Amino acid sequence: MSRTVVLPVVALVLFIAVLQVLPFGGERTNPPVTAEPQWDSLRTHELAVQACFACHSNQTDWPWYSDIAPFSWKVRGDVDAGRALLNFSAWDRPQPGAGAAVGSIVEGHMPSNAYVLLNPAAGFEPAEQKDLIRGLRATPGEFDAAGD
Ligand code: HEC
Repeated sequence: MSRTVVLPVVALVLFIAVLQVLPFGGERTNPPVTAEPQWDSLRTHELAVQACFACHSNQTDWPWYSDIAPFSWKVRGDVDAGRALLNFSAWDRPQPGAGAAVGSIVEGHMPSNAYVLLNPAAGFEPAEQKDLIRGLRATPGEFDAAGD
């Protein structure tokens, strides 16, 4: 192989290696679950786990790429931001994003398209989406404060 091929490849590998030791992106943590909403049904809970728990609970099933920069920065940032607004595992504390939950699903904002692309199992069949909306409305917690 010529130098023109080898040098850029070596540079890229070194660059990615350096990214791994940069102190960005936070920790992969799953703090204890202190309280969950009183789900109206098992189905609602299952659908929330499927579509929302990756970023809105303390039971994140961390994907393998969440260990590798630069992907780790995005994944950990999403989980930090998601938990800060709405954490289904900390229902003994105020959740500022709770009231927007139904609206975020109705509008197709959650789960995000990029996430579903990488994790197709987190996406909704149309019936699942309807069931989660109905279930959240029936679960105590004012998930539909915007009133869609
Ligand atoms: C891949 C991670 C991820 C998943 C999965 C996810 N969210 Fe989010 N969510 C976020 C992030 C990051 C934010 C903050 C930034 C934003 O609003 O886009 C957020 C914000 C929110 C908010 C705050 C208000 C809003 O709309 O911005 C609500 C409500 C919400 N999500 C509900 C949900 C629900 C309900 C699900 C499941 C159907 C879900 N999310 C799935 C990452 C996620």
